[in-house]
Formats: sequence, structure tokens, C-alpha cells
Amino acid sequence: MKMLCVPQSPPLQGEVRINTSKNSMLPILAACLLTKDEVILHDVPCLTDVRWMGRLLQALGVRITRQERTWVIGCTALRTTNAPPDLVQRLRASFLVTGPLLARCGKVTIPFPGGCSIGSRPVDMHLKGLCVLGARSRDRGFALEMESPQLRGDTVYLDYPSVGATENILMAAVLAKGNTCIVNAAREPEIEDLARFLCAMGAHIEGAGSGVITIEGVKELHGCAYTAISDRIEAGTFLYAAAVTGGDIALRNACAAHMRPVTAKLRESGVDVWQDGDLIRLRSTAPCAAVQVKTMPYPGFPTDMQPLALTLATVSRGVSVITETVFENRFLLAGELKRMGALIQVQDRCAVVQGARALWGARVSATDLRAGAALVVAGLAAAGETQVLGIEHITRGYENLPYKLNALGADIKIIDTHIDHNNTAQSRGR
Ligand code: EPZ
Repeated sequence: MKMLCVPQSPPLQGEVRINTSKNSMLPILAACLLTKDEVILHDVPCLTDVRWMGRLLQALGVRITRQERTWVIGCTALRTTNAPPDLVQRLRASFLVTGPLLARCGKVTIPFPGGCSIGSRPVDMHLKGLCVLGARSRDRGFALEMESPQLRGDTVYLDYPSVGATENILMAAVLAKGNTCIVNAAREPEIEDLARFLCAMGAHIEGAGSGVITIEGVKELHGCAYTAISDRIEAGTFLYAAAVTGGDIALRNACAAHMRPVTAKLRESGVDVWQDGDLIRLRSTAPCAAVQVKTMPYPGFPTDMQPLALTLATVSRGVSVITETVFENRFLLAGELKRMGALIQVQDRCAVVQGARALWGARVSATDLRAGAALVVAGLAAAGETQVLGIEHITRGYENLPYKLNALGADIKIIDTHIDHNNTAQSRGR
């Protein structure tokens, strides 16, 4: 088992390059199923979730050749439309192959994706939208069978601007017969990025990024070469790490426009955030001020940044109130922060944080991807050493997080822990 040993850090200083977005790359990889032609994806991030999506595509018969960070993807002939359960269970986003397989092959068999620690995460809106386009679904208990001889364009009203449901329906609609309109669509930048990718393949899409997306179905799509947008959540994570340590950092390859909800909230906390050419700069001198945060679908404050905001609140001056409106169980991090001395009261979807606490190092466990990153950031502020277990969660969405933070002044080590025959923990650093 591996863990991160995170000693208290001096203020983070320096420049860090932000990767392309995990939450763009995953639907874009699924969308490659929509064409027989070769697709070239540049600057693909080295993340566990991305690798699992690649393995799922290969299990379906897709040929993937990697040349460093470029993936050459060929979907000339698919081997099967049955998504393997062991791969689907590993990666919730694997459900995004449903729309493309229906559009390309007219059928798909896929297990229901598991929920996770942050919520049950059903896919009812995905299914409802795909059925509006003519798909028929049969619940086989162990898996879902869907088929659609020919998808037909129609108007889909989403009860909630679900990111995944918008993506699945969008990818199904591009090859449907006739026009589709998705109303109350998600507006995240990753939706716009997927639409841009689909248009580069010859799709006809208008309105992505607004709440209403219209698609004119086409007969087929062709290959293309593409680079996804930068990862606004990774970028936000580094900004919060700098705010927590009182640092002065610059982000390269970040998109200021996509980060406005996050940078606005950080400015409200009292830090300086500004664009300096193609860099985003943050300087934090005094302890931050407590703020109220409410997570909302884009362009609201992103739920994926909520764990980082919770962590900053523990060391800010005053009482912060953080409300999580997107997922029903996204405050598991609070229990781990309390082990580090944080004063947090959680009631339903609301956390009240008594700030200005000196955190102390403890052995804590990551419960999900963003909570894991937040625990590392909390360790940078805490006196002593914090040991973060469950780092396999972190590598799902952050490439080389410890190394990137160390390049800014942290001193994080990855330790292999193993228990010898005396059952005492031994570890060796590297
Ligand atoms: C995407 O998940 C992201 N994942 C999540 O990022 C992100 O937190 C989330 O959008 C919200 O922004 C990827 O893009 C791979 P939703 P998704 O469908 O699509 C409910 C990370 O850390 N819902 O917008 O699953 C759902 O339960 C991850 O990178 C239904 O009830 O999110 C949730 O409460 C975590 N029925 C809410 O809607 C449905 O059919 C938002 O879910 C679909 C969703």
C-alpha cells in the first residue's frame, strides 16, 4: 500500500503547467467510437481514469497506439457492443460509451455503473434521454440492454443539467435521423469541448455551453486530430494550495474564462488572482477571510472544488458556510479534516467551519479523488507530517500531483508501507 507523507510546506512559489482536462478527455475518448476513421488525440493526460477508458475501448475492439502523450485511435471495426463489467465497474464515466454505441451499432449491453462515496449517481436521465431518441432499454438485472434500429432526433428535456446525461445524449444525437434539441443541458466547458470535438469530426451542433443545444443529425462522422481544453479543476486545486500556504504561484496552460467561479471566490477570500499574459497568477499574503460557498452546476462554483474550499475554510479567519447542492454525500472529507484539528459541523448538505485553526498532521484517508487532493493540500498547511492513504484515488485525476507540488516548494514523499511478520509498519522512502 502506498501513502503520501506531507510535511508542512513553506508558501508555494513558482510556475506549474496544467494538464488537459480529465473530464473532457473521457467523453472525447467515448466519442471516438462514432467514426471508423482514425482519430489523433494530443497531450493526453497520464491518469488512471483515462487509462481505464482506453482499456474499455480496446475491449470493444478499438485500436489505440500511444506515442508519448499522443494517442492514435482506430475504430474501423468493433469486436463487440458488450461493455465488460469489470471495466465498467472501475470507471463510472464508462457509461458514456452507451450513446456512441447506440448511434454507431444500434445496440449496447452495459452494467449499471456503480455509485461512489460522493453519491448514488444514478443514470436515469441518460436513459430517459436516449429513449426519447428512440432507444429501447431492457434491464437484465446484471446489465442493461439497449437497442435502437435508428435513432431519431427529438426534443429532450433534462430534469437537471446533468453533465454525463448531456454528453451521452449529445453523442447519440449526432448520428440520429433529423434534429435534436437538448433543453436544460449542462453548460460546463467540457460540454463545449466535446461539441467542438464532434464538430471537428463533421457533426452539426449549435448552442453547446448554453442551456439549449441543437444537433442536426448527419449520416457519418470522419476522423480528426484534437487537443482537449485544460483541466480547470486541477488548476483550481493548485490555486487553493497556494492560498492555503500563503504562496505566490503562476499557472501555465490554464483557461481564465473557465475558472471565473473559482477565481471570484478566491478573490472574495482576500487573495490576489489575475491574468498575466498566458499565465494565471495568485498571491496570498494574509490568512484568508471566511466565505460562503454554494456548489452549483456551471457557471456556479464547481462541486469538484468544494473539498478544496472546505480545506481553505479550516484555516481562514472567521466562520465559513459551505453548501453542497450537486451530490448528496460529498462531506466525507470533513471527518478526515477533523482528525487534523479542523472544527467542522456537517448538517445534511451544509458544513459550518470555524476557521483560524492550526491544523496538525495526522494519518488520514482519501475517500474520493478531490477529497484526496484536499487532504494533501491540508497537509501542506498542517504542523508536522500528514500521512495520506488511498492515493490511488488521487492518481485517477491528478498526474504527478506530489512532484508538481514539490516543484513549488513542498517536500512530499511517496512511501510504500508494508507490515512485516511482527505486524509493525515499516516503510522505505523514495
Ligand atoms: C461529472 O460527473 C464529472 N465527471 C464529475 O467530476 C462532476 O463532479 C460532475 O459532472 C458534476 O459537475 C466527469 O465528467 C467524468 P452529473 P457526472 O450527471 O456526469 C445526478 C471528478 O472528480 N444525476 O452532472 O456523473 C447525480 O447523482 C468527478 O472529476 C441523476 O440523478 O455528474 C448528481 O447528484 C466527480 N441522474 C447530479 O445529478 C442521472 O441520470 C450531477 O450529476 C445523472 C445524474
